[in-house]
Amino acid sequence: MGARIAGYGAALPEKVVTNADFAAYLDTSDQWITERTGIRQRHFGGTTGSLAVAAGRDAMDRHGLTGDDIDFVILSTTTPDQTVPATSADVSNELGTRGAAMDINAACAGFVYALVVARGLIDIGMNRILVIGSDTLSRITDQNDRSTAVLFADGAGAVVVERSEEESFLGWDLGVDGSARPILYCDHGGCMYMEGREVFKRAVRVMIGSSEKALKQAGLTGDDVSLLVPHQANLRIIEAANQRLGIPRDRTAIVLDRTGNTSSASIPLALADAGDAGRLHDGDLVLFTGFGAGMTWASLVVRWG
Ligand code: UT7
Repeated sequence: MGARIAGYGAALPEKVVTNADFAAYLDTSDQWITERTGIRQRHFGGTTGSLAVAAGRDAMDRHGLTGDDIDFVILSTTTPDQTVPATSADVSNELGTRGAAMDINAACAGFVYALVVARGLIDIGMNRILVIGSDTLSRITDQNDRSTAVLFADGAGAVVVERSEEESFLGWDLGVDGSARPILYCDHGGCMYMEGREVFKRAVRVMIGSSEKALKQAGLTGDDVSLLVPHQANLRIIEAANQRLGIPRDRTAIVLDRTGNTSSASIPLALADAGDAGRLHDGDLVLFTGFGAGMTWASLVVRWG
């Protein structure tokens, strides 16, 4: 007995904000944003719950499932719609899922944390877990601060983790270094604060280290990976990972040019984009890797399909 990932879904708010929109009122330019981050546009709007419902429904529909088929909802988010109750309670109600629901927060590594937790839930008897990553970072970003405004955005993505005959979860690595709080945080009622250069340096280090551990546990190397699905924070961070892991760009899922950094949603959005482009095939080895505030990090290797 094992578990596999089946079905994916995505949701983005309608409103598109381009680099030119920021350049119109901030001391920035399309050239700076594109060259330093790889981001060209992003989406703003919606609530974490409404985006999560849309992505969750998309994943369930594509996999031919109804609420009755889902016995656990895990919502990874850093931007819950309220403190109490958990946003996942509203989401499970809207989707008509049975059983349990909870939120988890491991910042931008949260979606991969949630996948690994879902795998553990299979071992204690659950059959199908809807794992959703949804964030509305535009609500906690100072839109007059050019160093963060151009980066963070809104969106949601989802997958179903289900019991299967064969094991598809081949290796994983999760970690946190809580001493890194001062370089990336948002207090209650405040806005995102980030020491970009320091986060960048550490992100490259932890993402590569964590990916290597997950690959090693799976008995694989970068050469074996069919598709790298990294957290979508900065194209230069992804390129550093490409180089150090030996996984070229044409085997990497990239969506940040169109979405910006959507935290928990970034990895499932990149996965859905690659899937829609016909880049996911049964048997493919997929490496998910993320990092975020905390600092947290998480990597997972799965066999697709
Ligand atoms: O998911 C959460 C994790 N977050 C991340 O992974 C983000 C990691 N960090 C980064 O992606 C990059 O560090 C940034 C994109 C945030 C910044 O890029 P950088 O190449 O590291 O730039 P920098 O912070 O070293 O800043 C260079 C210059 C500074 O000006 P001075 O001090 O050299 O005069 C900044 O003030 O660029 C300036 N700058 C901007 N200029 C135009 C910062 N933001 C902007 C902007 N437009 N939007």
